[in-house]
Amino acid sequence: MRFEVVERKPRHFNHFYPAVPVVVGVEAAGRVNFMPVVWNVGLSLDPPLFGVGVSPKRFSYGLLEQADAFGVSFHPFEQADLVQRLGSTSGRDTDKVAAFGLEVVRGQALDVPLLGGFYAAYELEKTDAVVTGDHTLFVGRLRGIWEDERAFAQDTLDPEAVRALLYYGRYRYGHPAANVADLKGD
Ligand SMILES: Cc1cc2nc3c(=O)[nH]c(=O)nc-3n(C[C@H](O)[C@H](O)[C@H](O)COP(=O)(O)O)c2cc1C
Repeated sequence: MRFEVVERKPRHFNHFYPAVPVVVGVEAAGRVNFMPVVWNVGLSLDPPLFGVGVSPKRFSYGLLEQADAFGVSFHPFEQADLVQRLGSTSGRDTDKVAAFGLEVVRGQALDVPLLGGFYAAYELEKTDAVVTGDHTLFVGRLRGIWEDERAFAQDTLDPEAVRALLYYGRYRYGHPAANVADLKGD
């Protein structure tokens, strides 16, 4: 065990991984773009709010500033390679949709792009952009949920049906083991 006093930036900051990265889809100024975001979080149930932490360095940032809505999708481990490519290429230099031949699913409740191949996805109406240090938390109100019904058993993800993508940091990916424990609460 080692201890480090932190003054500014820690040596690495991924102790809260592995975590599920989402792919954020956003369209503005005639551009559709996708980027993976592992700093994502559910924020409220009623109203249903979900947030994604995005650095101003990302091309998506400017699009998220302009757009009224955005999409978020959850992908299986089998798409790790695509997620990695989306997260190591910028829409600033490359039209990722054309370059990677991406399947774009259009939102039904909102006019947002979603990356094909997901087991679940959200259509979010942008409600807030909160600056949190060197990232901004874009908050969206859920207006539509897509769910592959084969992937969910009793309203939770069935690990036998889907291998959810997990991110460990430094471009390392994995998936949860299939063994789960169903513990009863009081
Ligand atoms: C798995 C994964 C997770 C990432 N999570 C975040 C994140 O939470 N916030 C962020 O700003 N960038 C994150 N990134 C980096 C961006 O996805 C990456 O810089 C991307 O190329 C930005 O694309 P854009 O410039 O087209 O918007 C992540 C990258 C990967 C591969």
